[in-house]
Amino acid sequence: PHRIIIDCDPGHDDMAAILLAAWHDDIVIEAITSVCGNASVENTTNNALRIVEAFKLDVPVYRGAELPLLNRYEFPAEFHGPSGLDSAGVDLPQPTIRAESKHAVQAIIDLVDANPGEITVVVVGPMTNLALVLAMRPDLAGTIKQIVFMGGSATEGNITPAAEFNIWADAHAARMVFRSGVKLVMFGLNLTHQTLLRRSDIAAVRAAQPGDNAVPDIMDFYCGTYYRFAGQDKPGAPLHDPCAIAYLIQPDLFEIQQLPGDVIVGDDQSYGQTLIDIRPQDPAHDARKKNVGVAMKADAEGFAQLMTQALIWGAGR
Ligand code: BDR
Ligand code: CA
Repeated sequence: PHRIIIDCDPGHDDMAAILLAAWHDDIVIEAITSVCGNASVENTTNNALRIVEAFKLDVPVYRGAELPLLNRYEFPAEFHGPSGLDSAGVDLPQPTIRAESKHAVQAIIDLVDANPGEITVVVVGPMTNLALVLAMRPDLAGTIKQIVFMGGSATEGNITPAAEFNIWADAHAARMVFRSGVKLVMFGLNLTHQTLLRRSDIAAVRAAQPGDNAVPDIMDFYCGTYYRFAGQDKPGAPLHDPCAIAYLIQPDLFEIQQLPGDVIVGDDQSYGQTLIDIRPQDPAHDARKKNVGVAMKADAEGFAQLMTQALIWGAGR
């Protein structure tokens, strides 16, 4: 099985990613680390604890970075609600368990040190924790197995025309990670706009687990936000973060291209953009450094089936 750390800012689709990983036998979650992103780190840590307790996961939670490296921003409460994990109905209870006392950055360092070459870090929030890990211990670029992340885009942005939220929220951290030399696999908006959580998938969860249930209600909040932005006629909402987990479980759901990628941190409208070089090249004269495996195409049906099974499992816990 893949031994992973989930570095996240839950977050509705972060919760879906955690459930997918917890459900599947091919994944062992060694730790959940939180970061400020969709909400304050206070809230994202609290939400991670709510998830761990409500779904009876035996996973330690470590609180991570309080702020991005450089830029400050208002938490975008319109997407995930003020708590970061609002529900359209039943809420996950507040946690009675607590985060570990060790800082998330130290926890990542210690786990990689104890298991060189073994740990995949799945980043589905801003990359602040990872940048701090690599600033403290650049040598870990050689012992982190890989970083599989949701962030960026080879096409359009969401928080700005150019930038996707996770990268934009800490573009300097993302640039450090992009340039670190760690093996990177990117699930950007160009991909996640193909992997919808459909209205019919939520209906399937409700049918399988009838009665009041936080899982479909939380997903309804998330999709409702999307439909308000994108149109009520949409058949589903893009479910970003679980793609990174689905790739570990079933890599053949995705088509990955090895390409050059970097992060723009200039002081203009392109701030936070991932610049992915998709130009075709003559292989005989291609000297570019292809540092990112970029997911380009998804088997949307296969993804939806996998995700729905995991949500049904979660709803039954
Ligand atoms: C990303 O931003 C967050 O709102 C989601 O959880 C996801 O990680 C999508 O841009
Ligand atoms: Ca997220």
